[in-house]
Amino acid sequence: MKSTNRRQFIRKLGISTAVASTVGSSFAAGKSTISYLKRGKVTNTSEVLNLALIGAGGMGGEDTNTALRHEGIKLVAVCDLYKGRLGQAKQKWGQDLFTTDDYKEILKRKDIDAVIIATPDHWHKQISIDALNAGKHVYCEKPMVHSVDEGLELIQAWRKSGKVYQVGSQGLSSLGNEKAKALLAGGAIGDLNYAEGFWARHSPTGAWQYHIPEDASEKTVNWKKYISNTTKRPFDAMRFFRWRNYTDYGTGMSGDLFVHLFSSLHFVTDSLGPNQVSAMGGLRYWKDGREVPDVLLGIFQYPQSDAHPGFNLSLRCNFVDGTSGSTYLKLVGSEGSMDIKWREVVLHRNKSISSDDPFAKAKAAESETGYADRKQMLPPEEIVYKAETDYKGAHYDHFGNFFRAIRTGGKVVEDPEFGFRAAAPALLCNDSYRQNSFINWDPQNMKVVK
Ligand SMILES: NC(=O)c1ccc[n+]([C@@H]2O[C@H](COP(=O)([O-])OP(=O)(O)OC[C@H]3O[C@@H](n4cnc5c(N)ncnc54)[C@H](O)[C@@H]3O)[C@@H](O)[C@H]2O)c1
Repeated sequence: MKSTNRRQFIRKLGISTAVASTVGSSFAAGKSTISYLKRGKVTNTSEVLNLALIGAGGMGGEDTNTALRHEGIKLVAVCDLYKGRLGQAKQKWGQDLFTTDDYKEILKRKDIDAVIIATPDHWHKQISIDALNAGKHVYCEKPMVHSVDEGLELIQAWRKSGKVYQVGSQGLSSLGNEKAKALLAGGAIGDLNYAEGFWARHSPTGAWQYHIPEDASEKTVNWKKYISNTTKRPFDAMRFFRWRNYTDYGTGMSGDLFVHLFSSLHFVTDSLGPNQVSAMGGLRYWKDGREVPDVLLGIFQYPQSDAHPGFNLSLRCNFVDGTSGSTYLKLVGSEGSMDIKWREVVLHRNKSISSDDPFAKAKAAESETGYADRKQMLPPEEIVYKAETDYKGAHYDHFGNFFRAIRTGGKVVEDPEFGFRAAAPALLCNDSYRQNSFINWDPQNMKVVK
């Protein structure tokens, strides 16, 4: 599309110039118009930040590898409760790493600037608070806390510390989420009235049946420490390596997956969250002793706020999804809708809006054309915004945001208040499911309303 035409087109959609400036190049392809999204060059200083990892499993490994792709980041220490993971850490990141099964050993070290916390959920709060009190910057995996009553204590510790704290729902740092936010603000789908998100899986690993190492025993796992802040039980390798299936450690489908959708939705809409939460579900297929459902639906009421009109949200997660395929997040407004992914946004606009209202018809008949049923020029059926192929991704951007905030004294996109407002409605789904009732939530003050 020629640039003048594109400008007119964007103006017609009512999209702001801020939106347009993130567009690289665009062209028409079949029924779609495609635009490419790109990230400007990010400049970092060369000052080295020393990093430590606490919880060196799947996500801890990914977080660390992503962090190390940034300039001036050095990994100096790793903590884990399973010896196998500490051995793997040395193989991956160097034999000179300091390793321990006690995170307090890491927090004691003066040379460590920041920690990544990627333990199971039941350890997030305590390690976060201890790390902030020890003067460390924190990147903590989602969900920020294991239950709603832990949130405000962590927020207070963060406020007191003056340190940078980023929660790890990386999707909201993506080009896709940023584009969706700008499109919504520019009026691209009119007034938001409904949103939905879903996650569909159908595989043992997708349903959390992870591999249990052959050497798993109390000799290789510090089980006593693992359960020291929850119910005391004899060693159980399933509860250690498949922790997501058990409520003492994990937060179910909603804490694990809905929380990503809340984070993106709240970022895109500037929302503080819903005021009513309800969930239903059941254990339909993966009957392996787990305590959490494998199909879960959540319905949420978002009250009108300064940032957005009132709208409803529906989320679902299915680990027995025979149709497969997972749509990420869809926003629906009075004039269109958009499907939002981390690397792509697809915008659909209403083709036309005609009215049966006799008054509107009479007014149209009086218009300068003189006739009401004149055909109209239609906008494109869809516009696809795609990240350029060399885009480094949301995870890279999220760590970039964290490191920049540390170096410049700036802010992160997902601080503890944001992180708690995204985690709380997800965690309240578990309460609603178990109690078989609606839960009222005060998103401003971050409290359950009794
Ligand atoms: N942001 C994302 O996209 C994303 C994706 C996956 C997981 N996660 C989050 O990351 C966290 C870890 O998930 P995972 O899939 O990597 O699990 P995992 O089981 O692979 O890793 C957890 C690790 O923590 C260790 N651990 C347990 N308790 C500990 C403690 N008290 N101190 C130190 N180490 C401890 C375990 O030995 C294990 O190695 C979870 O909170 C999860 O929700 C986020």
